[in-house]
Amino acid sequence: MSKVLAIAASPRKQGNSEVLLDACLEGVREMGLRSEKIRICDLKISPCLNCGGCERTGECVINDDMQMLHAKFSVCDILIVSSPVFFMGLPAQLKAAVDRCQAIWVRKYLLRRRMPNLDARRALFLQVGGMKKKSVFEGGLITITAFFATLDYEFFDKLLFNSIDAKDAIKSHPAALARARQLGLEIASGRTHNVTNSQQP
Ligand SMILES: Cc1cc2nc3c(=O)[nH]c(=O)nc-3n(C[C@H](O)[C@H](O)[C@H](O)COP(=O)(O)O)c2cc1C
Repeated sequence: MSKVLAIAASPRKQGNSEVLLDACLEGVREMGLRSEKIRICDLKISPCLNCGGCERTGECVINDDMQMLHAKFSVCDILIVSSPVFFMGLPAQLKAAVDRCQAIWVRKYLLRRRMPNLDARRALFLQVGGMKKKSVFEGGLITITAFFATLDYEFFDKLLFNSIDAKDAIKSHPAALARARQLGLEIASGRTHNVTNSQQP
C-alpha cells in the first residue's frame, strides 16, 4: 500500500495552504490511504552549506531533522507539498529542505543510485499566493519541478490559487477545496494524469 507524505510549508498554522492540503488529504483518506502530515516549520532544518560532505556517499553530514525527512522520502511513494508564495518563490523553511536534498541529487546523478519503487512515485504541488497575477507561481514551480525530479517523483499535478491572502480566505472558495480533495482522490487512486492548472478560485 502506498505511503503518503504531506508537507505543509507555511509558518502560519492552519493557513490557506494547510487548509488546502487538508482538503487534499481528505481525498487521499477517502481512497483508503493513510497519510503523514509534517509542518516543515516544526522541524529543525539548517541550510545547505555546500560543504561537499555528501559528494562521495550521497549522505548529508549535517545532523538535524533533515535526516528523518530523507528517510521518509525513500519510503513514501506519494508526496504532496503545499506552500504559500513568498517573494515570488518558496518560503525559506521549505527552500532549506529542498536545498538539503543536494545529497539525494548526488545519489541520483553522481552515484547513479535511484529511489526504490520508481514506477509508483508521484507528487503533487499545491500553492496559494496573495497577489492577483498568476506569474507569482513561476519561481516556486521551477524549484519544485527540480525537487520532484531529483527525488524521482513524477510530477502528477499542481493546483495554484492566486488572490488568496488573508488567513482563512481559502475557506470562502469551496470549489478550490473541492478540487484539492479531488486531486487527493486521484493521486491516491494510482491513475496517471497530468493536468495543468493556474486559476483564481
Ligand atoms: C513574507 C511574505 C511574502 C509574500 N510574498 C508574496 C508574493 O510574492 N506573491 C504573492 O502572491 N503573495 C505573497 N505573499 C502572500 C501569501 O502568499 C498569502 O498570504 C498566502 O495566502 C499565505 O498562505 P498561508 O496562509 O498558507 O501562509 C507573501 C506573504 C508573506 C508573509
